[in-house]
Amino acid sequence: MKILVTGGAGFIGSHTVVELLDNGYDVAVIDNLSNSSKKSIDRVEQITGKKITFYEADMLDQAAVGDILDREQVDACIHFAGLKAVGESVQKPWEYYENNLQGTLVLVDAMRKHGVKNFIFSSSATVYSDPAFVPITEECPKKPCTNPYGWTKSMLEQILTDIQKADPEWNVILLRYFNPIGAHKSGLIGENPNGIPNNLMPYITQVAVGKLPELGVFGDDYDTPDGTGVRDYIHVVDLAAGHVSALKKIRENCGLKIYNLGTGHGVSVLELVKTFEEVTGQKIPYSIKPRRAGDIATCYASADLAKKELGWEAKYGIREMCEDSWRWQSMNPNGFEE
Ligand code: NAD
Ligand code: UD1
Repeated sequence: MKILVTGGAGFIGSHTVVELLDNGYDVAVIDNLSNSSKKSIDRVEQITGKKITFYEADMLDQAAVGDILDREQVDACIHFAGLKAVGESVQKPWEYYENNLQGTLVLVDAMRKHGVKNFIFSSSATVYSDPAFVPITEECPKKPCTNPYGWTKSMLEQILTDIQKADPEWNVILLRYFNPIGAHKSGLIGENPNGIPNNLMPYITQVAVGKLPELGVFGDDYDTPDGTGVRDYIHVVDLAAGHVSALKKIRENCGLKIYNLGTGHGVSVLELVKTFEEVTGQKIPYSIKPRRAGDIATCYASADLAKKELGWEAKYGIREMCEDSWRWQSMNPNGFEE
């Protein structure tokens, strides 16, 4: 089975390509490298000992995407390509809507013209906004998003749902990721944010490696056990394995399915910092800062449906997530740059 992976040079995409190759799938990758490096593809080849067909192309380039589907006889697409920085999306809404919505429409159009109707989409827990209840099940109502990035995910879920409804030959799986961190055990691939990280784990690892002086903890007065925000951190290798499980589901002609990919456990900011310090022996200086606009107190998944229907569950805990994030950062202090 051949899988087209869009955004396959990125953080989650590169880890998923490893899992796909290790599970006997053939893979072709499209990425415009706008937020990634070709080196991640080389590293994936190094890890797996297998060759990847790589196309440096933009999802907005209809002709290029069509040509790739002419050339590759693919059975399914996993669509990671998209812009993902929440704050930037507030500054550049047009760019986010164009890239994420139009990029997906171009892909779906090329797929239907080639009779490829199996689609796995990278959605996010952000569609639940401030969740109506925790643990968040897939039944939890979607709420208005607080930023354009979140809206692109919410809107694309709707678009893909409508496409599947109109043509039941489509199999569409919407995967709502919680907070992916960690890295491949080899330390060869990992998250490589541009500039100062917005997300917690890359910020912690950059403090640990000496690139940033201290962590700001955004609020210690939330209604949580220690007052800091609680999230469902999931090891990126577990998340990647969730895509292989979703592909098996697609082979059963599943129609439309929605799954949370999380661990089902909430961890606070200070718990994550403490565990990181214990596991790595690195001290993380921090100070308490005001709450970050748009943040919520608590967000964690119920991962029961994915377990029941996909036979998938997360294997790794936060100790391994910390250990593996640190191995990646300490082996590659400047990411994929020399
Ligand atoms: P990433 O930025 O590392 O990977 C996305 C990849 O897509 C990058 O390699 C980028 O170069 C590529 N890309 C972007 N626009 C493109 C375009 N127009 N044409 C071709 N390639 C393009 O991000 P990631 O963390 O690996 O996230 C992957 C997907 O998962 C994204 O859709 C993201 O929104 C979603 N997601 C991520 C998280 C997270 O915390 N990382 C959480 C929920 C959902
Ligand atoms: C962020 C995104 C969300 C996206 C998710 C996964 C925002 C507002 N939301 O969520 O849309 O789906 O990533 O990619 O960016 N924290 C600090 N100091 C820091 C950074 C974070 O204390 O320097 C805290 C936050 O307040 C939060 C927790 O750490 O409580 C996790 O933050 P982060 O890693 O940014 O993820 P989310 O806010 O869950």
